[in-house]
Amino acid sequence: MKILVIGSGGREHALVWKIAQSSLVTRLFCAPGNPGTAGLAENISLAVDDLEGLLDFAIREGIDLTVVGPELPLSLGLTDLFQEQGLMVFGARKNAAIIEGSKAFSKDLMKKYGVPTAAYEVFTEVAPAVAFIDQLGTPIVIKADGLAAGKGVIIAQNRDDAVTAVNDMLSGNAFGAAGSRVVIEEFLTGEEASFLAFTDGKNLIPLATAQDHKAIFDGDQGPNTGGMGAYSPAPVVTQLIHDKAMNDVMRRTIDGMAAEGRTYRGVLYAGLMISGDEVRTLEFNARFGDPECQPLLMRLKSDIVPVLLAVAEGDISGMQLEWHDDAAVCVVMAAAGYPGDVLKGDIISGLGEAAKIPDLFVFHAGTAVRGGDCVSNGGRVLGVTARGVTVQDAISRAYEGVKEITWQGVQYRKDIGHKAIERVQGTGKTVNPES
Ligand code: AMP
Ligand code: GLY
Repeated sequence: MKILVIGSGGREHALVWKIAQSSLVTRLFCAPGNPGTAGLAENISLAVDDLEGLLDFAIREGIDLTVVGPELPLSLGLTDLFQEQGLMVFGARKNAAIIEGSKAFSKDLMKKYGVPTAAYEVFTEVAPAVAFIDQLGTPIVIKADGLAAGKGVIIAQNRDDAVTAVNDMLSGNAFGAAGSRVVIEEFLTGEEASFLAFTDGKNLIPLATAQDHKAIFDGDQGPNTGGMGAYSPAPVVTQLIHDKAMNDVMRRTIDGMAAEGRTYRGVLYAGLMISGDEVRTLEFNARFGDPECQPLLMRLKSDIVPVLLAVAEGDISGMQLEWHDDAAVCVVMAAAGYPGDVLKGDIISGLGEAAKIPDLFVFHAGTAVRGGDCVSNGGRVLGVTARGVTVQDAISRAYEGVKEITWQGVQYRKDIGHKAIERVQGTGKTVNPES
């Protein structure tokens, strides 16, 4: 089979890495890819939003399966376009990807189909929004409705900050058109987990559990990023929480989407807030999480290609996934300035040394090759990902790799996985509801 992966981040490098291991693959392409994917696939210099260019390429090359990494091409309708030409695509159609593309849509869907989530209202005008802020009190959460690269959520600690956020978004200054509607919602407390499942629109196959680390600094301090590290499994997802996530969140959501005439096929990602035995949904994504994908695929024992193909064909019934019992941890190494403006072009050293560490893989995200050197070329630069018998083993190994690698201004969190350790302390073993 000829497979095309679309995207250029750490998530796509992980997908290429896993797909390349399949005996079903004869040729593997990545558009546009990065220096990491170049070692495993043929990089094609087409942007993720160049739908016509990608379609031409897929037809010309006779691509059997296209796997879409990021949300943008899904929201632009890549799947619809490819399917009209009889091509197989793993990724939601446009009218289903809206579950990520519009937070107002996803909140209304959750309300209609009884998916537990925070209390909220949607606004396009400042005055009623401010009245709602006064009614809910602070802290309060203000979200731009549209895609904002993971940065459209403001947690306001006081009324002034909340009103400023609403004004900035509704005036179009903060996130352009994505902020022309805002969702204002109740602030939830608890521990977050990323819950992902493959679905053909009727059946669900949960992936292993995972947890992301959104804030830039240790101890979950500082602004939110796309994710500074992730691990799997996430012990906060006990069997009870897993059951609730499947029954109350995923099942109701895909059934709701089908009832709305928006059958959801692909991987559905629910960001959960867990407090005691309570599960509430913060958001949905229409794609794999980045960096959650990296540890998840490192733990996936099964060949990933049959399930990706079955989702694209619309029937996953009877399929099962096998997972390694080991834990996996990904530590993101980011450029100076991230999540704001970043410095690019700094030479990265130590990749060769890190590559010698067993059960460790360095996924590339924002890298480039200049004059024979690998240089930083984005906010999140690398995802150093390792497996270990316990989360602690995986953490130690991942940081061994991180220690080998450096460049000017590199920043990374030193506490990736700490929440799992706190939960499993005393048992020495993580809980694995998915295996
Ligand atoms: P979202 O893109 O909606 O997942 O929001 C990004 C991040 O903001 C989440 O991962 C949470 O850390 C935080 N967040 C979003 N909604 C809430 C909420 N209602 N209460 C507390 N934190 C939230
Ligand atoms: N790591 C969070 C996300 O992919 O949205």
